[in-house]
Amino acid sequence: MDFFARFLNGKMLFERLETRIMIGITMFVATMVLVGWVAINEGARMAAFDRQFAARSIERGAAMFSTYCSTCHGTNGEGIAGRAPALNNPQLFGHDFIPEINTERNALIAEKAQLETELRDSANPVTAERETEINARIIEIDNRVADLEQQALPFYQQAQTPILLGYDIYRPDRLANVSWGSNLYNFVYSTLVHGRPVSNAYFEDPMPNWAQVSGGPLRDDQIRDIVNFILNWNRDFTIEDLLAVRQFAVEPCAPTGPCGGEQVANVDSVIDAGGYEELRVQLDAAEGDPTNGQTLYNGQGLTGTGAVLGCSGCHLGGAQAPDLEGTWTRVQNERLPELPTYTDGVDYLIHSIVVPEEYIVPPYTDLMPKNFGAILTVQDLADLIAYLETQTQ
Ligand code: HEC
Ligand code: HEC
Repeated sequence: MDFFARFLNGKMLFERLETRIMIGITMFVATMVLVGWVAINEGARMAAFDRQFAARSIERGAAMFSTYCSTCHGTNGEGIAGRAPALNNPQLFGHDFIPEINTERNALIAEKAQLETELRDSANPVTAERETEINARIIEIDNRVADLEQQALPFYQQAQTPILLGYDIYRPDRLANVSWGSNLYNFVYSTLVHGRPVSNAYFEDPMPNWAQVSGGPLRDDQIRDIVNFILNWNRDFTIEDLLAVRQFAVEPCAPTGPCGGEQVANVDSVIDAGGYEELRVQLDAAEGDPTNGQTLYNGQGLTGTGAVLGCSGCHLGGAQAPDLEGTWTRVQNERLPELPTYTDGVDYLIHSIVVPEEYIVPPYTDLMPKNFGAILTVQDLADLIAYLETQTQ
């Protein structure tokens, strides 16, 4: 009572100045401790929240997978022979069962290819001495590769069934095999958004496109839930996981793939042999098909060398890369007047795709993959350019 009486009399709750200072300090310290405690625990609280969020996304993805995807890709993502490849699949995640052997073997095979190119280069013939040296090294490489394959034999025998189904123990990474320049999330996401309308060349029915933006039934958040569900299959894969696969992804240049086992000449090889003049001559003769260019641009089909392109993934919307829309108009009205080294729009586009580091469009950074010359044929490049030429506004 005394307490309130003092208050009402307009007096201080605590009369002594020292007491008031002490209380002030105590309150301040207590507040800081409380804020600190909350801040320290915020990370853990957010992480738990993120985990729950991710778990719910995966759960929703699982439900949609079973509704929309399992009829082709199998109940458990194991694939269905002749219908669609496994996604719950060491190959999609690039799991290598014999990594040391493959690393060494691949390096040797690349070295051998380089030596053979040197031998064949008629513009710079090698000396007799160098030729002997190269041939000796090639024999050495062949012997070492045979050795490594001997070491791989136990795994080769275990993997008999997958090998019969088209699995290649020496090329275990799907993304590397289609020369995909970005990560697995983007690969799955863009496959879902655009589908692969031409995949009925080697499967019963093509992979449909699912996103509303491309005329499919699913919203973007639903697509992302499904991607999260698929990526959640990643783990330390075992041989049993490999044996559970019922259908492997079709290797483009396998005998049954779209390029029928043929090795096709790429843009780089044309430039190596005859320079950009020769490339231009062949490109003009090729008569680009804009419809196929669009298919390639959107990653909906395979290039002549069997690659899947991710152009639209970066160029959509203009945030990471110049917007596709209006490309041709911009090239004519802005690039060519500023960059007189390029003789015309086609010349500019060839260089932007094959040697993108030559000119970086401001304010963007140098993100374009540098391997398009290797994975495009002259016809692919002609088709892409024909498509970009339709982008006027
Ligand atoms: C009508 C059958 C069919 C349905 C339904 C289907 N797919 Fe596919 N899917 C395919 C075929 C065929 C391929 C192989 C395409 C190719 O090799 O170019 C494929 C390829 C894929 C790939 C790329 C695999 C790779 O290694 O290249 C992913 C990812 C994928 N599908 C996810 C899904 C998801 C997720 C769903 C459900 C929303 C789904 N698919 C529904 C037939 C189907
Ligand atoms: C990883 C992201 C990425 C991918 C994939 C990509 N690009 Fe690009 N692209 C860029 C960026 C960033 C720029 C701007 C910087 C520069 O000039 O390199 C660019 C620039 C360009 C330009 C010049 C545009 C202008 O306005 O002058 C063209 C043309 C182009 N890209 C075409 C393609 C084609 C065709 C493909 C597929 C074969 C492709 N890009 C794939 C990121 C990408």
